[in-house]
Amino acid sequence: MVAREVARRRTFAIISHPDAGKSTMTEALALHARMISEAGAIHGKAGRRSTVSDWMEMEKARGISVSSTALQLNYRLDGPDSDDITVINLVDTPGHADFSEDTYRVLTAVDAAVMLIDAAKGLEPQTLKLFQVCRHRGIPIITIVNKWDRPGRTPLELIDEISERIGLTPTPLYVPVGIAGDFKGLLDRTTGNYIRFTRTAGGATIAPEELLDADAALAKEGDDWINAVEESELLSEMGQDHDQEMFLAGQTSPMIFSSAMLNFGVRQLLQTLVELAPPPQGRAAIDETVREVTDPFSAVVFKVQAGMDSSHRDRLAYMRIVSGEFERGMVVTHAQTGKPFATKYAQAMFGQTRATVDTAYPGDVVGLVNAMALAPGDTLYVDTKVQYPPIPSFAPEHFSMLRAESAGKYKQFRKAIDQLDSEGVVQVLRNDIRGDASPVLAAVGPMQFEVVTARMKTEFGVDTSFQPLPYTLARRTDAASADELGRQRGVEVFTRTDGAMLALVSDKWRLQYIEKEHSDLTLEPLVATA
Ligand code: G4P
Repeated sequence: MVAREVARRRTFAIISHPDAGKSTMTEALALHARMISEAGAIHGKAGRRSTVSDWMEMEKARGISVSSTALQLNYRLDGPDSDDITVINLVDTPGHADFSEDTYRVLTAVDAAVMLIDAAKGLEPQTLKLFQVCRHRGIPIITIVNKWDRPGRTPLELIDEISERIGLTPTPLYVPVGIAGDFKGLLDRTTGNYIRFTRTAGGATIAPEELLDADAALAKEGDDWINAVEESELLSEMGQDHDQEMFLAGQTSPMIFSSAMLNFGVRQLLQTLVELAPPPQGRAAIDETVREVTDPFSAVVFKVQAGMDSSHRDRLAYMRIVSGEFERGMVVTHAQTGKPFATKYAQAMFGQTRATVDTAYPGDVVGLVNAMALAPGDTLYVDTKVQYPPIPSFAPEHFSMLRAESAGKYKQFRKAIDQLDSEGVVQVLRNDIRGDASPVLAAVGPMQFEVVTARMKTEFGVDTSFQPLPYTLARRTDAASADELGRQRGVEVFTRTDGAMLALVSDKWRLQYIEKEHSDLTLEPLVATA
């Protein structure tokens, strides 16, 4: 039973730069899986446009989930009446423009990533950062070139950019027929056939597809077809054909061209997920034994979202199931404390609506309500104990000192810091010189600081202020190097809550200077170590 459920599951995330079309694509996928009957149901226009300030308003209103959620789609590749269902879990990365650790953590919960790029813009900074995390974790990547209905680059230009800049070899499964801005359809490189799309009003419904053989395609599209065929042949000559092993090893990337807005290429993405993306696999525990998917239930918490309801101190922990069958109501053990945890109120998410789940399988994401003791990286299990390695923390790039405005609130302030620290909202750094009253918070993206200020006030009743510190990078160091580093200008040494010693350095020139003058000191880059 579990093996069958696992075989038909695919869990992935879309990695992209803001505005490339992730929300539109998410909606298009939901439309194709017939979860919604018209595009526009999940992300209203206003939702898509939400800015930093809207986001804080939403958090304050405590109504809307803006952090990672998982959308489960039941997709029937063979048509709406088929019994052959693939369960697709799309784990959403935070949609706002800021970049935080949440985004990275989500990537520890997926088995594949879809790298969505804008046909006119190619690789953009946030895509690159997320790509590095995927590569580090060895996650297979499917590339989708979106907005092909708008003027953009040529397929070969985009392929070159990806190969040269990030060393990932795109292997297009389809070649577009018609240049960017004149998207007619796709040449299916596996069959040699032509999939011709028809626009629907406003792109609100599934675009009808017509399947033509090569002769019919030539008759219909003339030069556009000839160009597509030539491009496909050129790719084959260059050895850029799909190779499943290379894809799973993260070396090559099946590539698709789409217009999420017109629903072109969306079915092809779903088909690729069903046919090529890997199903959930067993996972190695800290002691390196592997828990297979068919072993008893176990799961990893990858995201904690708190304070959605300020009166209840609501705390929702999202777990990704690693092995076994999950049944709501099951009492599981929290590996970090050894304490039991009751799962009476397990929930799955659809858009902004929560629904109760009764059973779930490896690859699925389930939200646990009132999960006060759970933190990102924690393991839950039944039967034989298992504990998975912690989620790595990422190299922070923003550092600020946090202070309570009123000294009278010191106790709540400390409690709040511990709470936010354990949830992984920010990293907390301390040293003897600064003392406990003004810890230094380290973040991957500056919006993490705003979240802290807002939650300090609404949940703990403490007004706080930030004072940015003049450091831009962190390096891992050790006790033996700490004293000498502490004497350097533009450097300050801290201990993080997990015990790691970090040297914060003003800028890369200062770092280069110290590395040159004091080559005996430990200064290691902080990298993801998943
Ligand atoms: P994001 O989640 O990655 O940030 O992007 P989102 O889907 O919100 O899309 C950003 C903008 O790009 C939106 O336009 C959206 O309509 C447009 N878009 C997405 N996919 C496509 C596509 O395939 N083709 C074209 N031509 N446009 C696309 P907007 O002007 O910001 O909003 P709206 O007025 O369309 O709502």
